[in-house]
Amino acid sequence: MITTAPIHRLATVDSTNLEALRLFNSGFCGPLWVIADKQVQGRGRQGRVWESDIGNLYASLLLPLEYQATIAPQLSFVVALAVSDVAVHFAPSQTVQLKWPNDCLLDGGKLAGILCETLSVKPLCVCIGCGINVQHAPEGLRYRTSCLAGETVSAVFDVYRAALAHRLHQWQAEGFAAISAAWQDRAIGIGESVEFEDGKKLHHGTLRGLADDGALRLDVNGTLKTFYAGDLTIPSLEHARRLRT
Ligand code: BTN
Repeated sequence: MITTAPIHRLATVDSTNLEALRLFNSGFCGPLWVIADKQVQGRGRQGRVWESDIGNLYASLLLPLEYQATIAPQLSFVVALAVSDVAVHFAPSQTVQLKWPNDCLLDGGKLAGILCETLSVKPLCVCIGCGINVQHAPEGLRYRTSCLAGETVSAVFDVYRAALAHRLHQWQAEGFAAISAAWQDRAIGIGESVEFEDGKKLHHGTLRGLADDGALRLDVNGTLKTFYAGDLTIPSLEHARRLRT
Protein backbone atom coordinates (compact mmCIF):
# COMPACT_ATOMS: atom_id res chain seq x y z
CA MET A 1 0.00 0.00 0.00
CA ILE A 2 1.57 3.23 -1.08
CA THR A 3 -0.39 5.28 1.45
CA THR A 4 1.48 3.50 4.24
CA ALA A 5 4.86 3.20 2.48
CA PRO A 6 7.81 4.69 4.40
CA ILE A 7 8.69 8.32 3.70
CA HIS A 8 12.30 9.46 3.27
CA ARG A 9 12.12 13.21 4.11
CA LEU A 10 14.86 15.63 3.13
CA ALA A 11 15.23 19.36 3.66
CA THR A 12 17.23 19.88 0.46
CA VAL A 13 18.15 17.45 -2.30
CA ASP A 14 19.39 17.72 -5.86
CA SER A 15 16.29 15.92 -7.15
CA THR A 16 13.92 13.51 -5.42
CA ASN A 17 14.01 11.37 -8.58
CA LEU A 18 17.82 11.23 -8.39
CA GLU A 19 17.65 10.32 -4.68
CA ALA A 20 15.19 7.54 -5.54
CA LEU A 21 17.59 6.34 -8.25
CA ARG A 22 20.47 6.27 -5.73
CA LEU A 23 18.36 4.19 -3.34
CA PHE A 24 17.47 1.85 -6.21
CA ASN A 25 21.15 1.52 -7.15
CA SER A 26 21.90 0.53 -3.56
CA GLY A 27 19.52 -2.42 -3.98
CA PHE A 28 16.17 -1.00 -2.90
CA CYS A 29 12.97 -0.94 -4.95
CA GLY A 30 10.39 0.36 -2.49
CA PRO A 31 7.61 1.06 -2.16
CA LEU A 32 9.15 4.20 -0.67
CA TRP A 33 8.42 7.90 -0.88
CA VAL A 34 11.21 10.46 -1.23
CA ILE A 35 10.08 14.01 -0.48
CA ALA A 36 12.03 17.23 -0.10
CA ASP A 37 11.25 20.79 0.95
CA LYS A 38 13.48 22.05 -1.83
CA GLN A 39 15.33 20.69 -4.87
CA VAL A 40 18.44 22.37 -6.25
CA GLN A 41 18.48 20.34 -9.46
CA GLY A 42 14.80 19.61 -10.05
CA ARG A 43 14.39 17.70 -13.28
CA GLY A 44 11.63 18.28 -15.80
CA ARG A 45 10.68 16.50 -18.98
CA GLN A 46 12.94 16.68 -22.06
CA GLY A 47 15.96 17.65 -19.96
CA ARG A 48 14.33 20.84 -18.71
CA VAL A 49 14.81 22.30 -15.23
CA TRP A 50 11.95 22.14 -12.71
CA GLU A 51 11.98 25.21 -10.50
CA SER A 52 11.85 23.89 -6.93
CA ASP A 53 11.77 26.54 -4.20
CA ILE A 54 10.37 25.91 -0.73
CA GLY A 55 6.55 25.94 -0.56
CA ASN A 56 5.67 23.41 -3.28
CA LEU A 57 5.50 19.62 -3.19
CA TYR A 58 8.40 17.55 -4.57
CA ALA A 59 7.72 13.83 -4.26
CA SER A 60 9.04 10.67 -5.87
CA LEU A 61 7.62 7.22 -5.33
CA LEU A 62 9.94 4.27 -5.82
CA LEU A 63 7.61 1.44 -6.76
CA PRO A 64 7.87 -2.18 -7.91
CA LEU A 65 5.14 -3.16 -10.40
CA GLU A 66 4.05 -6.62 -11.49
CA TYR A 67 3.73 -5.62 -15.13
CA GLN A 68 5.66 -5.86 -18.36
CA ALA A 69 7.76 -2.74 -18.93
CA THR A 70 5.79 -2.01 -22.12
CA ILE A 71 2.93 -0.64 -20.04
CA ALA A 72 5.15 2.01 -18.38
CA PRO A 73 3.87 4.83 -20.67
CA GLN A 74 0.35 4.28 -19.26
CA LEU A 75 1.62 5.22 -15.82
CA SER A 76 1.92 8.94 -16.52
CA PHE A 77 -1.81 9.05 -17.37
CA VAL A 78 -2.59 7.32 -14.07
CA VAL A 79 -0.50 9.90 -12.20
CA ALA A 80 -1.93 12.88 -14.12
CA LEU A 81 -5.43 11.68 -13.30
CA ALA A 82 -4.50 11.40 -9.62
CA VAL A 83 -3.10 14.96 -9.68
CA SER A 84 -6.34 16.17 -11.25
CA ASP A 85 -8.21 14.47 -8.37
CA VAL A 86 -6.04 16.50 -5.97
CA ALA A 87 -6.92 19.70 -7.84
CA VAL A 88 -10.65 18.87 -7.78
CA HIS A 89 -10.37 18.15 -4.04
CA PHE A 90 -8.72 21.46 -3.13
CA ALA A 91 -10.22 23.71 -5.80
CA PRO A 92 -13.72 22.36 -6.53
CA SER A 93 -14.96 25.64 -7.97
CA GLN A 94 -12.05 26.05 -10.40
CA THR A 95 -11.62 24.47 -13.84
CA VAL A 96 -9.49 21.33 -13.76
CA GLN A 97 -8.36 19.94 -17.12
CA LEU A 98 -5.85 17.44 -18.45
CA LYS A 99 -3.70 18.12 -21.48
CA TRP A 100 -1.88 15.36 -23.34
CA PRO A 101 0.26 13.68 -22.26
CA ASN A 102 0.29 14.46 -18.54
CA ASP A 103 -0.29 18.13 -17.80
CA CYS A 104 -2.86 19.01 -15.17
CA LEU A 105 -4.24 22.54 -15.65
CA LEU A 106 -5.99 24.57 -13.01
CA ASP A 107 -7.88 27.51 -14.52
CA GLY A 108 -5.69 27.09 -17.60
CA GLY A 109 -2.32 27.25 -15.76
CA LYS A 110 0.00 24.26 -15.31
CA LEU A 111 -0.40 23.03 -11.75
CA ALA A 112 2.02 20.13 -11.69
CA GLY A 113 4.78 18.29 -13.48
CA ILE A 114 5.17 14.53 -13.72
CA LEU A 115 8.36 12.65 -14.52
CA CYS A 116 8.01 8.86 -14.46
CA GLU A 117 11.19 6.89 -15.01
CA THR A 118 11.71 3.16 -15.49
CA LEU A 119 14.62 2.06 -13.27
CA SER A 120 14.58 -1.62 -14.11
CA VAL A 121 12.62 -3.70 -16.57
CA LYS A 122 12.68 -7.22 -15.10
CA PRO A 123 11.40 -6.97 -12.44
CA LEU A 124 9.77 -3.66 -13.28
CA CYS A 125 10.68 -0.88 -10.87
CA VAL A 126 9.61 2.69 -11.53
CA CYS A 127 10.14 6.12 -10.05
CA ILE A 128 7.04 8.34 -10.14
CA GLY A 129 8.25 11.93 -9.73
CA CYS A 130 5.69 14.63 -9.19
CA GLY A 131 5.90 18.31 -8.39
CA ILE A 132 2.70 20.14 -7.42
CA ASN A 133 2.60 23.93 -7.10
CA VAL A 134 1.12 24.53 -3.66
CA GLN A 135 2.10 27.94 -2.28
CA HIS A 136 3.54 29.55 -5.37
CA ALA A 137 3.17 29.37 -9.13
CA PRO A 138 6.61 29.77 -10.77
CA GLU A 139 6.84 32.77 -13.07
CA GLY A 140 8.78 33.60 -16.23
CA LEU A 141 8.18 30.22 -17.89
CA ARG A 142 7.00 29.66 -21.47
CA TYR A 143 3.59 28.60 -20.14
CA ARG A 144 1.18 29.92 -17.52
CA THR A 145 1.24 28.27 -14.09
CA SER A 146 -1.19 27.94 -11.21
CA CYS A 147 -1.03 26.78 -7.60
CA LEU A 148 -3.19 25.60 -4.70
CA ALA A 149 -2.67 28.82 -2.74
CA GLY A 150 -3.73 28.64 0.90
CA GLU A 151 -3.02 24.91 1.27
CA THR A 152 -0.07 23.30 3.03
CA VAL A 153 2.43 21.00 1.33
CA SER A 154 1.70 18.35 3.92
CA ALA A 155 -2.08 18.40 3.29
CA VAL A 156 -1.52 18.23 -0.48
CA PHE A 157 0.90 15.31 -0.07
CA ASP A 158 -1.66 13.38 2.01
CA VAL A 159 -4.39 13.86 -0.60
CA TYR A 160 -1.98 13.08 -3.46
CA ARG A 161 -0.90 9.81 -1.83
CA ALA A 162 -4.52 8.72 -1.40
CA ALA A 163 -5.47 9.80 -4.93
CA LEU A 164 -2.49 7.99 -6.47
CA ALA A 165 -3.26 4.83 -4.49
CA HIS A 166 -6.87 4.98 -5.72
CA ARG A 167 -5.93 5.47 -9.40
CA LEU A 168 -3.17 2.81 -9.31
CA HIS A 169 -5.70 0.38 -7.88
CA GLN A 170 -8.25 1.32 -10.55
CA TRP A 171 -5.60 0.77 -13.25
CA GLN A 172 -4.70 -2.64 -11.85
CA ALA A 173 -8.32 -3.73 -11.28
CA GLU A 174 -10.05 -2.30 -14.36
CA GLY A 175 -7.22 -1.87 -16.86
CA PHE A 176 -6.00 1.11 -18.85
CA ALA A 177 -9.39 1.52 -20.59
CA ALA A 178 -10.91 2.81 -17.33
CA ILE A 179 -8.01 5.24 -16.78
CA SER A 180 -8.19 6.40 -20.39
CA ALA A 181 -11.95 7.04 -20.13
CA ALA A 182 -11.59 9.02 -16.89
CA TRP A 183 -8.61 10.92 -18.32
CA GLN A 184 -10.54 11.81 -21.49
CA ASP A 185 -13.52 13.02 -19.41
CA ARG A 186 -11.23 15.77 -18.06
CA ALA A 187 -9.20 16.30 -21.22
CA ILE A 188 -9.08 19.65 -22.96
CA GLY A 189 -9.30 20.00 -26.73
CA ILE A 190 -10.98 16.77 -27.86
CA GLY A 191 -12.91 17.47 -31.07
CA GLU A 192 -11.12 20.81 -31.50
CA SER A 193 -8.68 21.97 -34.17
CA VAL A 194 -5.17 21.71 -32.73
CA GLU A 195 -1.53 21.81 -33.75
CA PHE A 196 0.96 19.08 -33.02
CA GLU A 197 4.74 19.36 -33.39
CA ASP A 198 6.28 15.88 -33.51
CA GLY A 199 9.91 17.04 -33.64
CA LYS A 200 10.01 16.83 -37.44
CA LYS A 201 6.84 18.50 -38.62
CA LEU A 202 3.93 20.65 -37.50
CA HIS A 203 0.61 18.86 -38.02
CA HIS A 204 -2.79 20.59 -38.07
CA GLY A 205 -5.81 18.42 -37.32
CA THR A 206 -8.73 17.60 -35.08
CA LEU A 207 -7.91 16.04 -31.72
CA ARG A 208 -9.55 12.60 -31.44
CA GLY A 209 -8.44 11.68 -27.92
CA LEU A 210 -6.35 8.71 -26.87
CA ALA A 211 -5.55 5.48 -28.71
CA ASP A 212 -5.78 2.23 -26.70
CA ASP A 213 -2.16 2.63 -25.53
CA GLY A 214 -2.35 6.34 -24.65
CA ALA A 215 -0.99 7.67 -27.96
CA LEU A 216 -2.49 10.94 -29.18
CA ARG A 217 -4.94 10.57 -32.08
CA LEU A 218 -5.17 13.34 -34.61
CA ASP A 219 -7.46 13.46 -37.63
CA VAL A 220 -5.40 15.11 -40.35
CA ASN A 221 -7.52 15.72 -43.46
CA GLY A 222 -9.54 12.55 -42.85
CA THR A 223 -6.55 10.33 -41.97
CA LEU A 224 -6.24 9.23 -38.34
CA LYS A 225 -2.63 9.58 -37.16
CA THR A 226 -1.17 8.54 -33.79
CA PHE A 227 1.72 10.21 -32.01
CA TYR A 228 3.77 9.11 -29.02
CA ALA A 229 5.86 12.22 -28.39
CA GLY A 230 5.69 15.89 -29.22
CA ASP A 231 4.13 19.20 -28.26
CA LEU A 232 0.39 19.78 -28.46
CA THR A 233 -0.96 23.32 -28.88
CA ILE A 234 -4.66 23.90 -28.29
CA PRO A 235 -5.70 27.28 -29.75
CA SER A 236 -8.81 27.60 -27.54
CA LEU A 237 -6.59 27.23 -24.43
CA GLU A 238 -4.11 29.83 -25.69
CA HIS A 239 -7.05 32.16 -26.47
CA ALA A 240 -8.54 31.72 -22.98
CA ARG A 241 -5.08 32.37 -21.45
CA ARG A 242 -4.71 35.61 -23.45
CA LEU A 243 -8.13 36.78 -22.21
CA ARG A 244 -7.04 36.17 -18.59
CA THR A 245 -3.79 38.15 -18.84
C1 BTN B 1 7.68 18.42 -16.26
O1 BTN B 1 8.63 18.89 -16.91
O2 BTN B 1 6.51 18.76 -16.48
C2 BTN B 1 7.94 17.37 -15.22
C3 BTN B 1 8.48 17.95 -13.94
C4 BTN B 1 8.62 16.92 -12.83
C5 BTN B 1 9.10 17.54 -11.53
C6 BTN B 1 9.12 16.57 -10.38
S1 BTN B 1 9.41 17.38 -8.84
C7 BTN B 1 9.69 15.85 -8.04
C8 BTN B 1 10.49 14.99 -9.02
N1 BTN B 1 11.90 15.26 -8.88
C9 BTN B 1 12.41 15.83 -9.99
O3 BTN B 1 13.59 16.18 -10.11
N2 BTN B 1 11.46 15.97 -10.90
C10 BTN B 1 10.19 15.48 -10.44
